[in-house]
This record gives sequence, C-alpha cells and structure tokens, in this order.
Amino acid sequence: MAPDAPVSRPAAREGARYPERAVLERHPDSTGSLGIAISEAVEVAARREDTKYALGSVLSHVLLHQTIIGLEAQVQFQLAEDYPDLVIGCTGGGSNFAGIAFPFLGDRLRHGRAVDLLAVEPAACPTLTRGAYAYDFGDTAHLTPLVKMYTLGSSFVPPGFHAGGLRYHGMAPMLSHLAALGYIKARAYEQLECFAAGLEFARVEGVLPAPEANHAVKAAIDEALRCKVEGRSRAILFNLCGHGHFDMQAYRDYLDGKLVEQTYDPAESAMALAGLPVVNEPITAASSP
Ligand SMILES: Cc1ncc(COP(=O)(O)O)c(C=O)c1O
Repeated sequence: MAPDAPVSRPAAREGARYPERAVLERHPDSTGSLGIAISEAVEVAARREDTKYALGSVLSHVLLHQTIIGLEAQVQFQLAEDYPDLVIGCTGGGSNFAGIAFPFLGDRLRHGRAVDLLAVEPAACPTLTRGAYAYDFGDTAHLTPLVKMYTLGSSFVPPGFHAGGLRYHGMAPMLSHLAALGYIKARAYEQLECFAAGLEFARVEGVLPAPEANHAVKAAIDEALRCKVEGRSRAILFNLCGHGHFDMQAYRDYLDGKLVEQTYDPAESAMALAGLPVVNEPITAASSP
C-alpha cells in the first residue's frame, strides 16, 4: 500500500495533514523535534490499516521494562560486593534513566539504602531543571493523551544540538512525579562540555559514547572529581545508554572546532507553555533550579 493510501480506520482524520509537513510549511528551517516525530508516527499509524505505533520512552510501561538495566546492575554490584552511592543517567523521555535508577530507588524506599539519583539533561532542552510541572501533550500535534509531567510546552522545538534523543519537550510522568517529590535530582550540561567528556571517556576506556550518553559521562566524571577534592570515596554507577558509531561526523565537527553551543531560549518555552491545555490543576515550577 502506498504510504498515503486512505484507510477506513476511524482514527484517520479526514483531510488531516501530516504534522511534520505542516510544521515545515510554517517554519521551513525547523530543526524538528521528538514531539513532531511522534505526531508524524501517530498520524501514519492512524491512516493505515497495516501500521501500529507504540509510543516510546515517556510512558510508564517503557520505563518499567527498561528496569532490566538496573536489575542487572544490582546483580553485578552483588558480585562485586559493593553498592552504588550515586546512580546517573541522561534524560530524553526518561526511559534509560528510569531503567537504571528505579530498582535502586526501590531499595532506598523499601530498605533505606542511601543512594542518590541524578538525571542529566541538555542545557538547551532543560525539561526537568527549567520546565513547568503540568498536564501536557506528549506530541506537537496533540494526538497523544494528556499526562502530568515536567514540560517546556508541546510546541517547543529545541535548538539543533547533536544529542537528538534528548530533544524532547516533556519527561516521563513517573520520573517527573519522583523529581517533584525530591527523590531524583536533575542537572543540565551544555553540548561542548559533554563532547569533551565523551572523548575523554573514549580515550581512556576505548568505547565511544553516543552524544546522549555523554551527558551521563560528564556528570560521572564531575562527581568523581568532586570526590577527589572532598577526599571521599563513592561508588558511581552511570548508564552508557548507547554508542556513538553513527555520530562520527559530530565528533569530527567537535574536533575541528565547528560544533557550537546551542542556546536555550526561555522565551520560546514561555510561549509554548502559554499554550498548555487548561486543566483544573495548579502548575508548579521546575524541580531543581
Ligand atoms: C543513545 C540514546 N540515549 C538516550 C536516548 C533517549 O533518552 P531516554 O531514555 O530518556 O528516552 C536516546 C533516544 O533516542 C538515545 O538514542
């Protein structure tokens, strides 16, 4: 079947345009976003009989099946007869961080284990550190259900930094809730310092991290250096959530000095947040300024 072939499925919206095409008409230079990509995917699935779409990262079931990461890490720590003092992951929609962190949070809540959890995000898309905690859509065209989460606004298009998997306006509701309750701390880093950390890691460990993973690497290095300064020993666990084999051009650009910082514009997010759906719930500010 041709991609645009009409179907009888009721969810197919009569006369609707593919969201990405509508965005490009209004903003031909748009760098796109994960929110736009989700709208596009839902629209395709709604139009075709032979296509289904499972929304990723941001939803609870995805977070839960990713906890295999943390469960395996717990077994590895048992084998090493150790336990992490700090667990770190980067956050786009929240699944890889929740996957590694939630089993340890379970230990903390059930058994009082002292373990800190740190979510690391790009400074150019600072959902947890500068977003609002409110009901919002998971996609730009508002085809997904409303969820309560930290959000920069569903129409917010982050600048075109290289960690594309972190260019998402929202954050998984379970993770957002835990951040709002103070169980999870959040921190944001700029693009260049993350690439510097990723390269250092590659040189020392022989593994090239994805630009997304570089955020966790950067935080792990900073926390290890802080231990040195403070003269204390901490076991730090971080999630190396992907390799950078498809990101060689970005590393080359970084080494050639061509990679520039991408700046977050609070006015863009304020505009997007002005369009939040009206829900009878107070909107609260960011979790950790
Ligand atoms: C390597 C990598 N890490 C992280 C993410 C996204 O993060 P999260 O697990 O928070 O959705 C992506 C998304 O594409 C990715 O490719």
